[in-house]
Amino acid sequence: MPQQVTFTAMDHATRDDYDLVFAHDAENIATQAGRVVSWLQQMDGDSPYQISRLDHCLQTATRAECDGADEETIVCALLHDIGDVIAPANHSQAAAALLRPYVSDKNHWIVLNHGLFQGYYWMHHYDQERNMRDQLADHPYYQDCVDFCANWDQCSFDPAYQNQPLAHFVPMIERIFARTPGTCL
Ligand SMILES: [Fe+2]
Ligand SMILES: [Fe+2]
Repeated sequence: MPQQVTFTAMDHATRDDYDLVFAHDAENIATQAGRVVSWLQQMDGDSPYQISRLDHCLQTATRAECDGADEETIVCALLHDIGDVIAPANHSQAAAALLRPYVSDKNHWIVLNHGLFQGYYWMHHYDQERNMRDQLADHPYYQDCVDFCANWDQCSFDPAYQNQPLAHFVPMIERIFARTPGTCL
């Protein structure tokens, strides 16, 4: 039987209890890459697009790689829609939260805001202001997010596009999640 803490309420816990809890947390963090891969695999199903949500992610990442993006940026392109798995109502925020301890402020900001920026491509069909993203036009990463959407995200729904398979990106995912995560309580 695995070791367990002595307490049933946190206000009775000891340092030894938390040593045990944090050791378990560390193991969980160390195996995160494998879970990320399995979440991506869950996106390989029916979709209203001509390709699966997984293939959309693979296309987006392949385009980033072909354009010479660095590995962290490629992984962010791959995972930008992974929030669809657990938080479809705010998928950009969920993906950004997953990546935040491991990536630059710039890449985090792009993933966090890509949903709003992608609105440029569909909002006008619903009589909404497609340039709503321009409220962030003064932000230093505004143009980077515009470019992410224009060059990699909005165009990656093409069944004829030859993307890399998921296996190609798995070592990259493993390297990014092997980084020492920043603390975000
Ligand atoms: Fe998205
Ligand atoms: Fe997307």
